[in-house]
Amino acid sequence: MTDLLLLPGDGIGPEVTAQVRRVAERLTPVLKIEERLFGGASYDADGSPLTDETLAAAKAAKAVLMGAVGGPKWAGVARDKRPEAGLLRLRAEMEVFANLRPALCFGPLAEASSLKREFVEGLDIMFVRELTGGVYFGQPRFIEALPEGGKRAVDTQVYTTAEIERVSRVAFELARKRRNKVHSAEKSNVMESGLLWREVVTDLHKREYADVELEHILADNAAMQLVKNPKQFDVIVTDNLFGDILSDEAAQLTGSLGMLPSAALGVAGKPGLYEPIHGSAPDIAGQGLANPLAAILSFEMALRWSLGRATEADRLFAAVDKALSAGARTRDLGGDLSTVQMGDAVLAAL
Ligand code: IPM
Ligand code: MG
Repeated sequence: MTDLLLLPGDGIGPEVTAQVRRVAERLTPVLKIEERLFGGASYDADGSPLTDETLAAAKAAKAVLMGAVGGPKWAGVARDKRPEAGLLRLRAEMEVFANLRPALCFGPLAEASSLKREFVEGLDIMFVRELTGGVYFGQPRFIEALPEGGKRAVDTQVYTTAEIERVSRVAFELARKRRNKVHSAEKSNVMESGLLWREVVTDLHKREYADVELEHILADNAAMQLVKNPKQFDVIVTDNLFGDILSDEAAQLTGSLGMLPSAALGVAGKPGLYEPIHGSAPDIAGQGLANPLAAILSFEMALRWSLGRATEADRLFAAVDKALSAGARTRDLGGDLSTVQMGDAVLAAL
């Protein structure tokens, strides 16, 4: 059985996942690793961003780690064959509805943030982004031509009680093991789905998690509070689209988008999907400039959440911290290490 399926994908994906492989081979040589094409690379080779074989391999593995997908090369491809469509299908088919996105500021990187040190030093926020519903998947969605000229585009934001409840449960459970506080972000002032979101979270909290501190916050205010006073947050649970946006914002607080990992989890016992939250960065792809730490830390999350190897996860986390303390910096962090050299630095610290 495959322990870890690597899906390098596009752009900087292959470069950063190559460093994951080096780390895994050193830290956990017993893991059986398999690798497959995904996204645009899979489309180019097989005409589909996610083939049935790759999907079957993903479901059969213990954990799946993706690099990144997409790029201008596939901008003209039909929507259902785009690299991003492959990723959305993978998330949906794996039923990984809870996307954990930690925004953690490593001490040595407090200077790399665009905010003052006192605002970000020690920052530790956990986003729980709903990942398999909302406007990313809602039907109908289409673009139609209008008889009078011009076009009309429709996306649908849709959530059910069950979808909101299961992701909120993950947030409350995580908060209990952290600083016991959940912010639930939506737009209940303008959206029906926001109203239901608030209602379901409130009910669940009352029924089962009254010991956890809960605060409802409008998503736009959350965006503002994240740069005003980010340390007020512990766990933030939110929908698919707001989670996408707010987690990018929070990532930058911690110094660089190149630092943040994520874990997408579903039903217990099923494989998790691990992804750096950065994209394929076509502007720097193939140049050896990308920061591999988001991918390496995604592997750290896989060790912890899917592979039952918390000790190795702790060692890897400490190694990343040590490499950063020793001054290892890729370009996004203001340094000049290449992708491979950052991999070297983590291996040396290990
Ligand atoms: C992310 C990415 C994806 C998303 C894209 C690549 C489809 O931005 O994981 O945050 O929007 O979910
Ligand atoms: Mg995103």
